[in-house]
Amino acid sequence: MCGIIGYCGPKVAAPILIEGLKRLEYRGYDSAGISVLGPDGRHRIVKKKGKILDLRKAVPAELPGGTGIGHTRWATHGEVSDRNAHPHTDAAASVSIVHNGIIENYSALKQRLQGKGYIFVSETDSEVIAHLLSDLYDGDLERSVKHAVSLLKGTYGMLAMHVNEPGVIVGARNGSPLVVGVGDGEMLIASDVTALVEHTKQVLYIEDGEVVRMTADGHRTTDLRDKPIDRELQVIGWQIEEIEKNGYDHYMQKEIFEQPESILRAIQGRLEPENATAHLGGLNMTSRELLDIERVKIIAAGTSYHAGLVAAYALESLARVPAGSELASELRYRNPIVERNNVYFAVSQSGETADTLYAMRELQRKGARVLGICNVVGSTIPRESDGGVYIHSGPEIAVASTKAFTSQLSALYLFTLLLARMRHMSYEAGLRFMHDLERIPDLVQEVLTRTEHVQELAKKYAQAKNFLFLGRGINYPVALEGALKLKEISYIHAEGYSAAEIKHGPIALINEETPSLFIVPNDGLRDKVISNMKEVKARNGKVIALGVDGDNELADIVDDVMFVPKTHELLYPYLTVVPLQLFAYYTALELGRDVDQPRNLAKSVTVE
Ligand code: AGP
Ligand code: GLU
Repeated sequence: MCGIIGYCGPKVAAPILIEGLKRLEYRGYDSAGISVLGPDGRHRIVKKKGKILDLRKAVPAELPGGTGIGHTRWATHGEVSDRNAHPHTDAAASVSIVHNGIIENYSALKQRLQGKGYIFVSETDSEVIAHLLSDLYDGDLERSVKHAVSLLKGTYGMLAMHVNEPGVIVGARNGSPLVVGVGDGEMLIASDVTALVEHTKQVLYIEDGEVVRMTADGHRTTDLRDKPIDRELQVIGWQIEEIEKNGYDHYMQKEIFEQPESILRAIQGRLEPENATAHLGGLNMTSRELLDIERVKIIAAGTSYHAGLVAAYALESLARVPAGSELASELRYRNPIVERNNVYFAVSQSGETADTLYAMRELQRKGARVLGICNVVGSTIPRESDGGVYIHSGPEIAVASTKAFTSQLSALYLFTLLLARMRHMSYEAGLRFMHDLERIPDLVQEVLTRTEHVQELAKKYAQAKNFLFLGRGINYPVALEGALKLKEISYIHAEGYSAAEIKHGPIALINEETPSLFIVPNDGLRDKVISNMKEVKARNGKVIALGVDGDNELADIVDDVMFVPKTHELLYPYLTVVPLQLFAYYTALELGRDVDQPRNLAKSVTVE
């Protein structure tokens, strides 16, 4: 997690670093700091517990120097404090470093360095890198970094500067992302491209096991054995406007409202009306290989996992291929069985989630084909996968994932259509499904016009201490997602359950103070769900129903009701998730929470 940034160039580094950290703040935001190599040849380090705004206030107006590094932290080792914030340095302040990741052998290294007289001042694992570098420094920072990282176990994306080498930043990567931004007479490096787009569109992704040395006018990447790496620059597609709030109060709000557009972008150009199927070029699979698929497994975390659950349902129903979604963190450690014709999807907005990435690598080691479904172009999962689909939803900045979910669904529904058409789905049925899919952006737009009502309900229920989200069938994962959204940003305890399952336990939680939100589709399960709602009502529980237009009976049964327009039975998750996203958003607002940066969380979870 955490964001790191470095700048070498003719400009004053400090404001650029702070601005970059602001862009990266969504990656981690418990404390932050910068280090600038001043014209007097000394490192000036300013670091502060709290948000980037707090850091900005602490940075003196005059902080000259055109080379600097910065960090926004998501603590893993050591409490959140000024002292533990990065950058870290050695006693003589000759080197300063920022680090993203976990140094697993820091304790042993620390003891060894302490034995040599190095004094540690923080509780972090990262500080060991500063002392180690100071100890190993031989007049060449790049060489010393290579030497140092060869002794480290764990994950790092790190940057280092040394007072003897003004104008030089050295970066190294193992497991945590690093991307170089090549500007005009200036060079940047950061954890992700959001911090770079303002300055340049030309970027270079650094891979694990590589070290980059950069100055204002050049950069050189080598591996740990000094073999030069010659990789082409890539061009970032994102525009600066996409990472601004553009008049919205919060990124989350903006991203919820962008969904008609982002869903369209995920689908556009990928449908083939003449064949009533979908076309996904990036899968790198022949028709024969697609036909041979015997099982589809989706691995992911959090919201992406929920998208996988929805998709597995659709895949089984429409393509009649056995499918399932599993938490990547669980799969990795249970020695998964990989069979010849299994296809795996690693679904991840950021493309950097450690749990998903490591599970993917484990599957690949076993010979599996793993395809990525990611948003961030050039991130690690798509780079290491055997093919895949970009969802193109544009940057998702709010920690709570919203538009990525509906775009992940889109990619997976396209794959479902493709597979279904190769198997049992007729041309006519394919056309109908395609047509329904194409209508989704407009229907989501329609749901968004009903926001005010959701806002009223959020206000009404904001004081609840517990909340149940209940759904069945393909809407069961949506209930899980609704609960995740609410707990994540409002801190109200929320549980997502199958509506059928509550009688097996959770119904004990029901009383006047614990509301339940039921998703009530107009499918074969509707009457069953209504019975479940009545069971809750019979126990004095407050019930909100999320039903489908025209289902007027609901209003007589429940306390409050919201509606979504009609669509294909298997496409409801697109529509039912939106009111739940809005409900969480407005509840969090009502409670005065930090919507975009909820406590204890970070956007990209790059630690296990
Ligand atoms: C969602 O609101 C969460 N913040 C979180 O569960 C997220 O979906 C999860 O960490 C996975 O992230 P990814 O899609 O970037 O892999
Ligand atoms: N492990 C380091 C720390 O706790 C870095 C964490 C991060 O990636 O923000 O300070």
